[in-house]
Amino acid sequence: MNILIIGSGGREHALAWKMAQSPRADRVFVAPGNAGTAADAENVPISAEDTAGLIQFAKQNNVGLSVVGPEAPLAAGIVDAFEAEGLRVFGPSRAAAELEASKVFCKDLLRKADVPSADYHTFTEPRQAFHYLQEREDAPVVVKADGLAAGKGVIVCRGRDQAIDAVRTIARDREFGDAGNRLVIEERLDGQEVSVLAVTDGKTIVTLQPAQDHKPAGDGDTGPNTGGMGAYSPAPLVDDAMLHWIEEHVLVPTIHAMKLARRPFAGVLYAGLMITNQGPKVLEYNVRFGDPECQPILMRLKTDLVDLLDAAVDRRLDKLDPLEWDPRPAVSVVMAAEGYPGKYEKGRLIRGLDEAAALPDVKVFHAGTKQTDEGVVTNGGRVLAVTALGETIARAKLQAYTAVKCIRWRGAWCRKDISDKALALSR
Ligand code: AMP
Ligand code: GLY
Repeated sequence: MNILIIGSGGREHALAWKMAQSPRADRVFVAPGNAGTAADAENVPISAEDTAGLIQFAKQNNVGLSVVGPEAPLAAGIVDAFEAEGLRVFGPSRAAAELEASKVFCKDLLRKADVPSADYHTFTEPRQAFHYLQEREDAPVVVKADGLAAGKGVIVCRGRDQAIDAVRTIARDREFGDAGNRLVIEERLDGQEVSVLAVTDGKTIVTLQPAQDHKPAGDGDTGPNTGGMGAYSPAPLVDDAMLHWIEEHVLVPTIHAMKLARRPFAGVLYAGLMITNQGPKVLEYNVRFGDPECQPILMRLKTDLVDLLDAAVDRRLDKLDPLEWDPRPAVSVVMAAEGYPGKYEKGRLIRGLDEAAALPDVKVFHAGTKQTDEGVVTNGGRVLAVTALGETIARAKLQAYTAVKCIRWRGAWCRKDISDKALALSR
């Protein structure tokens, strides 16, 4: 079977690398891909937003399964468009992708389904939001733009003054455009964050091993938010009993509520959870694999990913054998461009990739990279996700950073403490 993966980040490289290992995979295409996917699969110069171009390519190249990486094409209805043309595609419909694309929709659904989450209010008028903030006690809140804002539309506030500023930014200055047409103001939760991803066909849920991301740019979770500076899996914070609890009280009622809302959900349901003193609560849903969580998760998955995603598309996940995992933990360290998450330059020559790749139990997933005549150059803010397996989290961390040390370009940087949270727990 020919496979088409849509997107160009570290997640898509991990998907392509893993799916290309399947005996069922003939050609694996990535559109538009990066220098890493060009090495492990075949790049196709079509943008992830060019639905018509992708459909035409899938038809002409006998693609039997397409997998959509990022949220924007899902929210724009790429799955509906593929299905209308009779093409098999893994991912949620536009109506189901609302779970990520609208925070108001998500919060209302969680409330209806009685899934634990932060208390919230929604607003369409900034005036009402200001009034609400003036009237309530001065407590920490989180102000969120309703729509997709590349992870930036969420402002965590210490108290009223910051919250008022946040409402101004989103609703009056319209920093995130139409994404700020509606607002959510919710209670701020305290605890550690984990990501629990599940593959579902709308009937059966196959939960993947939990992972932990590192969103802030600086060591010790300081500095501005990023797309994610590193991840590890499993997350020792979530033991089997808690994972089971999350399935029962979070994932199952959500899938059920989506069915009742006539928006059956198939694809990856990614719960961003806060583990609070009162137990796990949902911070948000994503409707796709997490980046960088996907990288350590897929490095550990032994089950054939083509079998898994294919079964989801055919709605026969109930017939699939239980997933098999490498028991060893995996740690993924993101190497970023100078200036990221602010402004950064592209086109810097990357050295040492072969040296890093030669290390045992290491895979260097590419994100913002491009192949040129001179070699591989940087082409984005998050450039690489250097991922390693180890007998323990400490060993996996050491091996990942050993690989990081092999790789150089002008201005390259990374967090130095990826997985330390897990180490603190296992001490
Ligand atoms: P979201 O896009 O909704 O996941 O929010 C992005 C980040 O904001 C999350 O990963 C959390 O770090 C933080 N966040 C969102 N909602 C809350 C909340 N209710 N309490 C504390 N932090 C939050
Ligand atoms: N790792 C965060 C995300 O994929 O949204």
